[in-house]
Amino acid sequence: MTPAGLALLPTPLVAAPRLAAALGTASLLVKRDDLTGFAVAGNKARQLDALLADARARGADVLVTGGTLGSNFVQAAAAGAAWAGLRCVLVLAGPPVPRSAHPNLAAALTWGAEVRFTGDPDRTAVDGAIDAVAAELAAAGARPYACPRGGASAVGATGYRTAVDELLGQLDGADPVVVVATGAGGTLAGLVAGVVATGRRLRVVGASVSRPADEVAARVLDLACQVADLRAEPRPVAQDVEVVDARGPGHGTASPEGDLAAATALRTEGLVLDPVYTAKALAALPAVAAGRPALFWHTGGLLDAVAAMLAETTRPTTAPTSRTTP
Ligand SMILES: Cc1ncc(COP(=O)(O)O)c(C=O)c1O
Repeated sequence: MTPAGLALLPTPLVAAPRLAAALGTASLLVKRDDLTGFAVAGNKARQLDALLADARARGADVLVTGGTLGSNFVQAAAAGAAWAGLRCVLVLAGPPVPRSAHPNLAAALTWGAEVRFTGDPDRTAVDGAIDAVAAELAAAGARPYACPRGGASAVGATGYRTAVDELLGQLDGADPVVVVATGAGGTLAGLVAGVVATGRRLRVVGASVSRPADEVAARVLDLACQVADLRAEPRPVAQDVEVVDARGPGHGTASPEGDLAAATALRTEGLVLDPVYTAKALAALPAVAAGRPALFWHTGGLLDAVAAMLAETTRPTTAPTSRTTP
């Protein structure tokens, strides 16, 4: 399927020598998917590119998805739906809150999304609620396109299957250890499917920020196999999926190691990292790379990153640093 044309690709692959020295890796490349060129969508632009193309092909007129209050994906989905001329209905975990509760909610509403709350703080309840809302909309005559939290469907993950072709074209034979922040798993699943399909022995490691590593690895393998089936390519096996636990103090909560990594990236290379995805993944990179050449896949999170910086200027010193994410 041809992408909808949302993301501006290829994203740059840049050397980060000062950050490499600070982290103690032989060299460091950064794949700049914070620069995918659409709204503040970061890695989600690639997934939405595939999802919106599929939605259009199916004649959908409303995108239905969801996540937690702070989900980067839901604000990106709201922007993507607006761009594609679709209505957007978002299902968020938890009781109703005002738009000021989180910058991602404010952004989603600004992009014109309708938001419904499950009333249940358990984020897994969102999946069933997305299907229920889609069924309700269909019964009312709409043509909904439902996609799971994080855009982590087989179609969404194909956005990162094709990113492997893009990266291999830029790597020029180099063989770095790739580290990428992993939440719902669509990004890593696409990368794993791509590495297996291209036969390239590239080591890709997911830094899990929201779930235990074994749980993520199982989800990612399942999704990567679905991507392979969709494209009639070889299926990955369990050994192809590598995940480390990068949650630190917990899902959605900034960590001192992550904050240090983010400050180092900012000061050495001007890279802006968010506190709960990219910062934690970068903090995990030195142990994974163990001195070898590495590649950090920057997945964005810019809205959260800037919001965190602004919060530093406004919040009382006693305020908690906890943030919620998908
Ligand atoms: C900034 C950022 N990086 C990484 C991820 C993880 O992507 P995935 O959900 O595809 O694992 C997300 C997910 O929301 C994100 O917002």
